[in-house]
Amino acid sequence: MGNESINWDKLGFDYIKTDKRYLAHWHDGEWDKGTLTEDNQLHISEGSTALHYGQQCFEGLKAYRAKDGSINLFRPDQNAARMQRSCSRLLMPHVPTEQFIEACKQVVRANERFIPPYGTGGALYLRPFVIGVGDNIGVRTAPEFIFSVFCIPVGPYFKGGMKPHNFVISSYDRAAPQGTGAAKVGGNYAASMMPGSEARKYGFADAIYLDPLTHSKIEEVGSANFFGITHDDQFITPKSPSVLPGITRLSLIELAESRLGLKVIEGDVFIDKLDQFKEAGACGTAAVISPIGGISYKDKMHVFHSETEVGPVTQRLYQELTGIQFGEIEGPAGWIVKV
Ligand code: PLP
Ligand code: COI
Repeated sequence: MGNESINWDKLGFDYIKTDKRYLAHWHDGEWDKGTLTEDNQLHISEGSTALHYGQQCFEGLKAYRAKDGSINLFRPDQNAARMQRSCSRLLMPHVPTEQFIEACKQVVRANERFIPPYGTGGALYLRPFVIGVGDNIGVRTAPEFIFSVFCIPVGPYFKGGMKPHNFVISSYDRAAPQGTGAAKVGGNYAASMMPGSEARKYGFADAIYLDPLTHSKIEEVGSANFFGITHDDQFITPKSPSVLPGITRLSLIELAESRLGLKVIEGDVFIDKLDQFKEAGACGTAAVISPIGGISYKDKMHVFHSETEVGPVTQRLYQELTGIQFGEIEGPAGWIVKV
């Protein structure tokens, strides 16, 4: 069955109820094998730790309709591993990698009619999550857990897609120095909602956060990682225990070095040294690669390559990454998992 009701060219990043989602339960020390269900409502205890104490984590990955008609997942093993790390940080049980990938595949197959056609630039965004549920009131790990995966067809995360966007440095922190910044947990995103909404109110795409200890170095965007390209062609991306280790970032680190011949540095990006960059960008599953036109800091706008034109290095990284995801270019071994 096709999907005539969706205008693939107009997709943004909005909830659409798709046909089926995967649902598994953990009790008595193990996960059940999970099922697909049409119901998009969860029935959980009012005492669920996910509701009160933020005991939950999530992932984001995409399924792509490839050039040859097959369906690609991009590095799902990395999402499974990151979700296991997030679960460890919040004292939740790991979902085994095989179950994670199998759940993603089942959801993609059951919702195949929602995969944006090749050439539209869209993809099927998968949202796996683990939540603590069951009757409880104390601040302790939940007696039961749910692991679910649902999916949504998406287009660009930032309006307008692959064009430069302006960002603003927030005076708030999204995570504490030894907190949960490196885990993909809801609390970090709850903390980013007010700064993000203020940023958008003033016309910026999103807020950028500085390191929570000294407020002198760029950490990341509320929903993506930061990278900059220096005038002498180094790819620099912040290294910090409170930054989410993005899979797009990890992939760009490899591609920048092996395919573009850039020197890669994971290190400090001081906010008063933005002049070293000729280009900058935000990278993530939802954001893909979004060129950063300028960054506003203390009421001054620092423009990188241009506020309207995409820089050549950013463009090449984008072509390489999306080329691999859509099956136009051979990727490094193991990056593409066929559904
Ligand atoms: N940083 C934050 C705060 C994010 O929400 C995301 C998106 O998942 C990323 C970075 C990029 O991570 P990934 O490339 O794995 O999507
Ligand atoms: C993602 O890129 O998967 C994200 O998590 C970003 C945002 C939608 C939270």
